[in-house]
Amino acid sequence: MTDYDAIVLGGGAAGLMCAAVAGQRGRRVLVIEHADRVGKKILISGGGRCNFTNLGVAPDRYLSANPHFAKSALGRYTAQDFLALVERYGIAWHEKTLGQLFCDGSSRQIVDMLLAECAQGGADIAVGHSAREIEHADGRFRLSFGGRQAQAPALVIATGGPSIPKMGATDFAYDLARRFGLKVIEPRPALVPLTLGGDETLFRSLSGVSAEVVARAGRTAFREAALFTHRGLSGPAILQISSYWRHGEPVAIDFLPDRATGWLRAAKREHPRATLRSQLAVMLPDRLADVLAERIGLTRELANCPDAQLQGAEQRLAGWPFHPNGTEGFAKAEVTAGGISTAELSSQTMEARKVPGLYAIGEAVDVTGWLGGYNFQWAWASGWAAGMAL
Ligand code: FDA
Repeated sequence: MTDYDAIVLGGGAAGLMCAAVAGQRGRRVLVIEHADRVGKKILISGGGRCNFTNLGVAPDRYLSANPHFAKSALGRYTAQDFLALVERYGIAWHEKTLGQLFCDGSSRQIVDMLLAECAQGGADIAVGHSAREIEHADGRFRLSFGGRQAQAPALVIATGGPSIPKMGATDFAYDLARRFGLKVIEPRPALVPLTLGGDETLFRSLSGVSAEVVARAGRTAFREAALFTHRGLSGPAILQISSYWRHGEPVAIDFLPDRATGWLRAAKREHPRATLRSQLAVMLPDRLADVLAERIGLTRELANCPDAQLQGAEQRLAGWPFHPNGTEGFAKAEVTAGGISTAELSSQTMEARKVPGLYAIGEAVDVTGWLGGYNFQWAWASGWAAGMAL
C-alpha cells in the first residue's frame, strides 16, 4: 500500500493540471489513467493543434444548472494564466478567430508541457490501469490498480464525460459520484451535429455546402458557419446551438444575416428582371440558393411578385425553421453537457460538500463551455482550483 496525499483518476486536461499544481505545492500525487497514454483528447483537439483557451472566456459562455458556479475558478485561473504557461514553455501560438488560441505546431506540445509540469511536481503517473475496489474509510480513499494498492486522504474524479466512447471515454465519473451519494445532472451530447428527418431530409442533397448564418434556439444565437451534412446540420454555428437545443424545439437559421428587412423589395425595384434565386446566388453558394428558392416557391421575375410575397420570403430566409429529430449522439459530441451536480461541490475548491476529500473537476462536472477553447479553459481552471486546495 503506497501512501499519497491525493490520487487523481484520469490523466486528461483537468487531471494533469491538478496533479501538476498539487505536486508543485509539495503534495505527493498519483495519477491513474486507464488509456495507454495521457491526454488523448488534447492530442486530437483543434484538428491536432489544440485550441487551448479563448481570450473571450466569461462565465456566461458556459452552461450549467448553476450558471454562477464556474465564476470563481475561471476568475482565479484565467486564459492569460494558461497563456503565460504556454509562453514559458516557448510554445508558439496564434489567434485563429473569435479569440480562439491554437498552437502553431502541435497539440503534443501541450501534453508535453503538462507532463513536464507534473514531473516538476514529482507526480507519479500510472497509465494503462483502471482504479478498482475504491473504498473510503477512516478519512482515506483506498484503491487498487494494476496489481498495486494506494491510499490517500483525497481522491479527484477527473475522468471526463462519455463523449467519443471509441477513445475510451466512459461514464465512470458519474457512477463513482453516485456511489458517494452525489447527484448527477442528466448527461447529454453537446457541441454535436443535429440530424434532420421527414420532409427536411431533402436538405441532404446539400451535403458539403456551408454558409455563414445566424443559428437560433430560444433566445440564444450564434453567428458562424453552418454546414449541411448527409445526416443533417453541422459546422460551428450548429455545434454551438446544439448545446442549447432541446428535443422538440426548432432551430431557426438566418441565411442572410447582413441583409436588412426590405432587401428583396428593394431588389425588385433595382433589378426587376432578377429572380429570387439569382439574388440569393449573389450571397450564398449556388446549390443552397437553388434549394431555398425552390422551397420558397418563388420562381417568377421579382417584378411579377407582389411585395407581400417578397416580404414573406425575406422573413423565411431570416428565420428558416429546421426541426432536428435528434443529434449524432455521444459518438460525435465534442463534449458532454450535464454531469456531477455543481450543487454538490464547493466552487472554490471543487470538493464535495458531503464527502470531505472527494473532488470532481473538468468535463465530469456540470459545466460545459462554448466551442472554441472554452472547455479546455474550464479543465485548466477547475484542475488548478482543486490542485490549490489539495
Ligand atoms: P478528458 O477527457 O480530457 O480526460 C479524462 C481522462 O480520463 C481521459 O484520459 C480518459 O482516458 C481517462 N479515464 C476515463 N475513464 C477512466 C477510468 N475509469 N480510469 C482512469 N482513467 C479514466 N476543447 C477545447 O477547449 N478546445 C478544443 O480544441 C477541443 N477540441 C476537441 C476535439 C474533440 C474531437 C473532442 C472530442 C473534444 C474537444 N474538446 C476541445 C473538448 C476537450 O477535449 C474536453 O473538454 C477536455 O478534454 C475535458 O478535460 P477532462 O480532463 O475533464 O477530460
